[in-house]
Amino acid sequence: MKFRSRLVVNLKNLEYNHSQIKAMAPDSNILFMVKADGYGHGMIPIARFAVTELGIKEFGCATISEALKLREELNDLEFDIYVFSDIQLELFENADIYLKRRIIPVISNVSELEYILHTPEFKNFPICLKFNTGMNRLGLDPKETPHIANMIKTHGRTTVHHLISHYANASYPMETNERNIYQRSRFIDIKKYFTDAGITLERTSQSNSGAIEQKIGFKNSGDTHIRPGLMMYGPTSLHSEFSNLGHFQGKVVSRLETYIIRTFEVTAGTPIGYGSTICPHDGIVAVLAIGYGDGFSTRYGGAHLHHKGFTGVITGRVNMDMIQVLFPIEARDHILAHEIFTIWGEQDGDLLKFSEETKTIPYELFCSLLPRIPRVYRLD
Ligand SMILES: Cc1ncc(COP(=O)(O)O)c(C=O)c1O
Repeated sequence: MKFRSRLVVNLKNLEYNHSQIKAMAPDSNILFMVKADGYGHGMIPIARFAVTELGIKEFGCATISEALKLREELNDLEFDIYVFSDIQLELFENADIYLKRRIIPVISNVSELEYILHTPEFKNFPICLKFNTGMNRLGLDPKETPHIANMIKTHGRTTVHHLISHYANASYPMETNERNIYQRSRFIDIKKYFTDAGITLERTSQSNSGAIEQKIGFKNSGDTHIRPGLMMYGPTSLHSEFSNLGHFQGKVVSRLETYIIRTFEVTAGTPIGYGSTICPHDGIVAVLAIGYGDGFSTRYGGAHLHHKGFTGVITGRVNMDMIQVLFPIEARDHILAHEIFTIWGEQDGDLLKFSEETKTIPYELFCSLLPRIPRVYRLD
């Protein structure tokens, strides 16, 4: 049996992206975001490679179950795991998971902090705090900094393991965007307050991909860590109008491949597929083995795909298992059944063009792919 559609993940490109980031931020440690199944690339193989080949020792998940999977499936390796959003500290059984599996919940409200400080089992457990410096999603209120610092000291603690904040607008200019300036300065104030209060901040971080790409945010901030997600997987996270501000030329780690099930010629006016969409011109239709059952959304209809130098259009409704791509008639002798067809390649441009055209974001394109698409790993 040959493959239908697959995501070919080239781990050498992950290595390349990592080396680019290290060159940009030589003094920063990397906390690598591998949530949402490694941004759709397969969290376990990605994290294993990151630990064993890249020396990364800290990972970010969104949920406790992601973190548990990471710990259980890579229990032969040493690394730290943070759970960022869905920490569910209110559930008794989760406390046990955090304690016994060495998973660090990122605390973003005072009641969670109270729980950690008051529960004897957590007496020596690392405290990781996330402040809302202006994203207005999760996070401790900076106005409560004195109260929080006081709580920590009252319980005889003198260190915070990791103090975190997160930029809302890192895809926009770091130097001039008001929200970015505001968030950066708030974080500096919070760090200063803790330090002045005699609390040691062992680790601090605020920068995600957009900030790292602009090389602003971690330089001179004194932060020990950066937290790249998307850029590790290759694409820029900068908005296209600000791409000139980026210093990062990543390689997209994945190639989404499918194959041509069959081709047939059509004349202008021929109705094809569900809903009988009318072909606007004579052409050749390639039926590809990918559809919304693979995570290839119906919203991708009308987008352009390329094969052997020809450009086709996804024509008619995206089906559960197939799409129809209409090519110009000149492609007749070139677009052949059974050929492998690349939806997005390793070239950044293809993925970004496709995401712009389909009004998605690269994050979403990656994360949308369903389990029916096998992930295949290469080192070329
Ligand atoms: C707390 C936190 N840090 C870092 C990241 C990484 O962001 P990016 O993928 O834009 O680098 C995320 C992603 O959403 C996040 O939630």
